[in-house]
Amino acid sequence: MKRIVALFLVLGCIIGIYAQGNQSKRILFLYDEDNEKIEPYKTMIENELNMNGLQYDVSNVQNIQNKDITAYDTIIIYSIVMAFNTNSPIRNWLNTKPDLANKKVGLLVTANRWFLNNLLNGQMNLLKKQQATIIDAVSSATKDLTEPQKAALIKNFIRIVKDKI
Ligand SMILES: Cc1cc2nc3c(=O)[nH]c(=O)nc-3n(C[C@H](O)[C@H](O)[C@H](O)COP(=O)(O)O)c2cc1C
Repeated sequence: MKRIVALFLVLGCIIGIYAQGNQSKRILFLYDEDNEKIEPYKTMIENELNMNGLQYDVSNVQNIQNKDITAYDTIIIYSIVMAFNTNSPIRNWLNTKPDLANKKVGLLVTANRWFLNNLLNGQMNLLKKQQATIIDAVSSATKDLTEPQKAALIKNFIRIVKDKI
């Protein structure tokens, strides 16, 4: 009888440690807003997360108040250049100084062609100010990319994020 109780205790500990490990790897995928340009990338990112067996929550940044960011230790950000880099919901959120200390952040920025580096560098600076750990930062102009090249971009981005969380 004692042995059975001991066995259950050990099993309980193992399950508890495993559950805690998974919990500490919770991922939040954030993107600028819902629009027709972002939608295909959002779908590709979610497909890759699923194919890699990564559990995540997803939100556009305008609804971030519905998420408790303290519950996540990894944040994946997808942000696009809009209106010559005058409009960036993700940047607006970063400017509110969210507490990102000890959070791992994977950042993907795309533009059709213009202001790509302005958006990337601006967001990286804000992330560093908030003491986020940037695990990957990728930017790509999409103007000359084929659909398979866009898919490969997302695949590589998620693979690197997965390896670093
Ligand atoms: C409202 C809006 C404004 C945009 N403004 C710019 C811009 O100023 N410069 C630019 O290079 N791309 C701009 N884009 C294009 C997006 O950055 C682009 O669609 C996104 O990076 C995804 O790339 P793809 O649509 O070429 O696949 C804009 C897109 C939207 C929806």
